[in-house]
Amino acid sequence: MKILRKAVGAAFTLLVTVSAARAQTPAFERPLPAWQTILAVSTDAEAGRAIATSGKGAAVACSGCHGANGVPAAGTPFPRLASLSAEYVAKQLVDYRVGARSNPMMEPIAKALSDADIASLARYYGSLKTPPAKAAGAAPSARALQLQGTGDNALAMPACANCHGHGGDGTGPLLPALAAQPADYTMAQLKAFRAGERNNDADAVMRALASRLSDSDIRALGDYFAGTP
Ligand code: HEC
Ligand code: HEC
Repeated sequence: MKILRKAVGAAFTLLVTVSAARAQTPAFERPLPAWQTILAVSTDAEAGRAIATSGKGAAVACSGCHGANGVPAAGTPFPRLASLSAEYVAKQLVDYRVGARSNPMMEPIAKALSDADIASLARYYGSLKTPPAKAAGAAPSARALQLQGTGDNALAMPACANCHGHGGDGTGPLLPALAAQPADYTMAQLKAFRAGERNNDADAVMRALASRLSDSDIRALGDYFAGTP
């Protein structure tokens, strides 16, 4: 009896100690991702414009590839940066800088940028207007409309619009616009996600989805977004 009482007493003490420790455990806070801390360093879009148009040391002028005002010249494979969210631009530049997204053109450029440069460039591109809609030459393919608008149940594929917006204009800071991106750029990214060569997508979401897309799906989607307002 005595032993039992002792055991119960010990168990009770343990329970009280554990609950007390739980109550003291602060919370469920996660450290801020690097890009978020870096984006907070500057809100100076003008400083970003200066680097974009004139470059800064080894970071050559962004406009040389991404075009004046963040709209690349027709026929080039470079992404449009105009009006992408500042958060998304900052995340990509940080990813290139640390090698989480690899590209032989962008990595050395991003490595030459300071935190303040990245923040001001992100503010600059985020402040620009979305390029005007390119008149679609032909009616969009039924397959692209299906993937974008409703998805494909047979492939357990949600609609692109769920995350990238009905107009392909993005739905949040890290859910980028796809509309008005050159077809070659969109296709290259989808193929890179599919092959796992681009792997900076949180929770591997784009790698999982792109792995279910065929070459002809990817072509249809590239053309579709290039022609969508
Ligand atoms: C020599 C050409 C070139 C120059 C100059 C250049 N870029 Fe890029 N940029 C590229 C290419 C090519 C890609 C796509 C790379 C890939 O597939 O990951 C890219 C991608 C990007 C992306 C990712 C866009 C997205 O939609 O995910 C950002 C952001 C970016 N560049 C910003 C910049 C900034 C800021 C500068 C100037 C400091 C700059 N770039 C200068 C060629 C260039
Ligand atoms: C569950 C949400 C989700 C769905 C659904 C989704 N995406 Fe994405 N997509 C993302 C996220 C998140 C990123 C940004 C990854 C990063 O942080 O670099 C992304 C990035 C992309 C990019 C790269 C954009 C750029 O500027 O480099 C392309 C292209 C893309 N998605 C195409 C598609 C297509 C096409 C579909 C439909 C077949 C689709 N996505 C469906 C979440 C999604």
